[in-house]
Amino acid sequence: MGEATSIVIFGASGDLARRKLLPALYNLYLKGRLTEPLNIVGISRTPFSHTEWRERLSAGVLEHSPLSWDRSRWEEFAHHIWYVPGNASIPEDMQRLNNFLAGRELGTGRRLYYLSVAPPLYVPIVHNLGALGMHQETQGWRRAIFEKPFGTDLVSARALNEEIHSYFDESQVFRIDHYLGKETIQNIIYLRFANAIFEPMWNREHVDNVQISALEAVDVGTRGGYYDDFGVFRDMFQNHMLQMMMLTAIEPPEYFDADLIRDEKVRLLNSVRPIQPQDVICGQYGGYNPADDSDSSVRTATYAAMRIWVDNERWRGVPFYLRSGKALARKRTDIIINFRRTPQRMLGGRQSIPNALSICLQPDEGVQLAIDAKVPDTASDTRRVHMGFRYDHAFAATPIPEAYERLLHDVMQGDASLFARSDGIEAAWQLMDPVIRQSEQGMPLLYTPGGQGPPAADALLTRAGHVWDDGCGGS
Ligand SMILES: NC(=O)c1ccc[n+]([C@@H]2O[C@H](COP(=O)([O-])OP(=O)(O)OC[C@H]3O[C@@H](n4cnc5c(N)ncnc54)[C@H](OP(=O)(O)O)[C@@H]3O)[C@@H](O)[C@H]2O)c1
Repeated sequence: MGEATSIVIFGASGDLARRKLLPALYNLYLKGRLTEPLNIVGISRTPFSHTEWRERLSAGVLEHSPLSWDRSRWEEFAHHIWYVPGNASIPEDMQRLNNFLAGRELGTGRRLYYLSVAPPLYVPIVHNLGALGMHQETQGWRRAIFEKPFGTDLVSARALNEEIHSYFDESQVFRIDHYLGKETIQNIIYLRFANAIFEPMWNREHVDNVQISALEAVDVGTRGGYYDDFGVFRDMFQNHMLQMMMLTAIEPPEYFDADLIRDEKVRLLNSVRPIQPQDVICGQYGGYNPADDSDSSVRTATYAAMRIWVDNERWRGVPFYLRSGKALARKRTDIIINFRRTPQRMLGGRQSIPNALSICLQPDEGVQLAIDAKVPDTASDTRRVHMGFRYDHAFAATPIPEAYERLLHDVMQGDASLFARSDGIEAAWQLMDPVIRQSEQGMPLLYTPGGQGPPAADALLTRAGHVWDDGCGGS
């Protein structure tokens, strides 16, 4: 029998475990990507039996991953699932967990610890793991996954990194940004570096501006308390928005290697000019219900748009416009590369419509290139038309896997390419901290729920002669 693999989920009774992690592990099992002997061991304070936790998880898979549901395969899989009730911040409970794992591993085994708990529990759990030597790799690798958010500012992220590094080596640490597990996000790198036609155009000579949007139709709903503390900058910009920008803008690494990619990301963030207050627009939708009437709750931004300048050879002078918000007209996430206009001479002085490459992340995942085409039966009229592909057409036989599936598999393979490194997390906070501080001093602009966000976000672009692109599925 080979070496055992134990996947330990702290926060076993929680939403993420039920809705995402176990469905992802089940799908990996169906694809034969989990090696056996296998133990999936959950811990949280709720007193489930093994059977009760399995039943809760099977309902989660049925609800959230119904296409892969197969009762007999699930029952096979469920034989690997165990539950240890306990409070992970109490050393005695952690010791019980360790004993349970050791009993199942029979001496040797690799362990993946998934901290699917609220961030204040990261330090006590790391401390208990360390005090019991559960991080030591004497009997197989030990890896730890930390959920987002990782810190709330530079100081707290740095303190958390230090605490983790007092036991775990950076190579054992995987900080999740689930956006990076999405196929469409990974495709940014392939689009850029596997297609010879794009890279020569990917610079200030040819690109006029870049727009990154992550817009949601839903409002904050019942997450009010959490959201008051985070707002759109901590919830979206410090992680997902900057990650999308980094993948769009980094220099090609010499070869595809986790550390080389992450080196390039940090280099990119370090070349971003400090973001100026006049380049940031904050909004709050009408009817936002703060958890309390404290100043910070009332000022929570549910929308932000900003202009970012990257001061390096490739991008100097090209604005990157980022926007994200809630309670907007429609849900869409995309990256639009707007190219420069062609010289007008050939078209008899008429302005061409500039090309735009849209990387559509959701919905309708795919890529579209907008080109200027002559309208038939006219002397010289042109119109914007689109060439493109959609994942659901081009890869109809291969449904897009959930981000967590890819990420969990990568951790087990020891591939950290899609995870944030400590210096990357800190560089992102360094950039965002002043923006957050500034936003907390003013009142956000009110915008109408179901609309386009505050009009000032349009003015941020129009003053430079730009407009927000309609994005994928737009005109
Ligand atoms: N849910 C999502 O879609 C999502 C998305 C992105 C990031 N995240 C992040 O993922 C993490 C988990 O989120 P979640 O939505 O699953 O939260 P959740 O539903 O509130 O679950 C938290 C879990 O922690 C457990 N817990 C609390 N104190 C504990 C302790 N002392 N010892 C052991 N377990 C303890 C709770 O169970 P007991 O009460 O039974 O102990 C529960 O199982 C958070 O960091 C969150 O920010 C979640």
